[in-house]
Amino acid sequence: MMRRRNYEASRAPGQARMDDFLNEFLSETKSYIGLDSADAERLAIVGPALEPHLPALAELFYRKILEHPNAARVLSGPEQLGRLKLTLQHWARRLFSGCYDLDYAQDRMAIGRRHVTVGVPQRYVISAMDVVRIFLLESIDRIEPDLQHAAATKHSLNKILDLDLNLMCESYFITSLRELRDLNARLEAANLELNELGRVKDEFLAHTSHELRTPLNAILGFTKLILDGLCQDRDEERELLRDVFESGQHLLGIVNDVLDIARIEAGKLKLTMERVEMRPLFEQVLAVVRVQADAKGIRMVDETGGLPLPPVRGDAHRLRQVLINLLGNAVKFTDEGWVSLRADTEAVAGHLQVEVQDTGIGIPRDKQAHVFEKFKQVDTSFTRRHGGSGLGLAISRRLVEMMGGSIALESPGKGLGALVRFTIPLDAPVEDRPHRAAYDQLSIAGPSHGTRVLVVDNDPGFRKYLQRLLASEGFAVVTADSYADALDAADRFHPAVALVDWVLPVSTSLAYGNGIDLVAAFQQRFSLPSILVTGHEPARAQAELSRRNLKPPTPILRKPLDAETLREAMQKVLTAHAPLP
Ligand code: HEM
Repeated sequence: MMRRRNYEASRAPGQARMDDFLNEFLSETKSYIGLDSADAERLAIVGPALEPHLPALAELFYRKILEHPNAARVLSGPEQLGRLKLTLQHWARRLFSGCYDLDYAQDRMAIGRRHVTVGVPQRYVISAMDVVRIFLLESIDRIEPDLQHAAATKHSLNKILDLDLNLMCESYFITSLRELRDLNARLEAANLELNELGRVKDEFLAHTSHELRTPLNAILGFTKLILDGLCQDRDEERELLRDVFESGQHLLGIVNDVLDIARIEAGKLKLTMERVEMRPLFEQVLAVVRVQADAKGIRMVDETGGLPLPPVRGDAHRLRQVLINLLGNAVKFTDEGWVSLRADTEAVAGHLQVEVQDTGIGIPRDKQAHVFEKFKQVDTSFTRRHGGSGLGLAISRRLVEMMGGSIALESPGKGLGALVRFTIPLDAPVEDRPHRAAYDQLSIAGPSHGTRVLVVDNDPGFRKYLQRLLASEGFAVVTADSYADALDAADRFHPAVALVDWVLPVSTSLAYGNGIDLVAAFQQRFSLPSILVTGHEPARAQAELSRRNLKPPTPILRKPLDAETLREAMQKVLTAHAPLP
């Protein structure tokens, strides 16, 4: 009694509720199917005699499962099958333990949960239980000569198998309920976020229209003055024209920012990833920003001079935009002191790290997390005073991430200056290292923050072609050359899409199969959409795919494959499978 009370005290409330539920479920089901202590006794007696039959049961069980055309979707290979045969015998042994308490029910529920997780449909479990039932009933007939005894034992066996089936099915029910609850919670959170986004967007729109109107008013007002001949002389006219020109440039900057963020949001902004030399880029950008710094009497310090700068992989035009943005901001928000540019090749492996630091107005700590969010400015009145769309940091973050880097901001607080630090991948050659389940780490080509793609092909040439192409388009790519390794890669890498060759080496045990089997397994297990790639007649692949009735249908691309066709197919699949916000 004492021990039970201690246990009660140590149980988490959720666990306690689950145990209470299971205890009730167990006693209700036992009484409904009439499982009592006499059954438990009979089963415990027959167990040892059935023990030698269990290996044959496991063999038959998985032979029957493999006859099912969809078994490949949940089973990955011979190593897993070997393990499963042992676990099935272990499961069968416990049927004859004679003890069907809370611990038993928890074990059976856990097995049920595992099946839900790996994607075994409930109807398969129900029909598989029949395979066990028929085998064990026949085995009892074989080992028990006394007909009456055999009939009673078989009756008890039916009861315990019913109890097991009930527990496994209850797992399915509970999991569905939990999934629905989770989905509901996610939908509620998404809804709240949408409302908040709507509010922030309205605020942004009001701010941007004000920002657009200010230079527009200047342009219209000054041009009208000139057109109406109200200037006193040529000099005054020229001065007004200069103001008009500057207002036009300012307006263009804001419009470009808004268009950029809209293009990024719509996934329409394309980067041209290439080898970029940083030295000339730094020099160009510093020349532009130095003019603004000089005008404000701020010292521009270039700490990168004399450093050997290895080339990076990125979009030169967009990198320039990020640097101008960050250095321009630093100058804009600094009234006295200095702005410094630094670079470091050691700080982050495989990346160049760039820092822009200033002695300006800084950012309060509680606002720092929001500075890179679109539409969320630290203080709209602030950008109003200093001009601009206030989108610079949001755009910079998206651009840096699309190029495979990351960006962060540090500021000791208001009035204490700020430091923005970003990384960009060095231009390293793409290495073909197909994934193996035994590897500790994934080998990812391309920007690690890019949309994730898994390429499965046993032809090294084509694999490398796809890998290079996708990496240069800003995707993060992992490759595999076999069915089992591909499943492991999908499990660990969580790709957004897989490109799968139709013809893959097929295992002789038939436990796993060709590319179409893999496409089916990806969809079933990970809800992962695929594109099938083949050098063979696509009509045949289409016929085989149609037989599987995969939803949504898998697109087929024919080798040789050009960049444009691949880009279009990827775009289609990724848009169709866009996750919930
Ligand atoms: C009466 C029906 C079944 C019983 C008693 C049974 C038994 C088991 C047991 C004891 C485990 C290990 C659970 C764990 O690791 O916690 C397991 C896992 C599994 N079973 Fe079943 N099973 C049944 C039906 C099926 C069917 C019909 C399929 C496939 C079509 C299937 C596929 C699997 C898979 C894929 C796993 C997970 C393997 C892994 O961890 O790698 N099972 N099963």
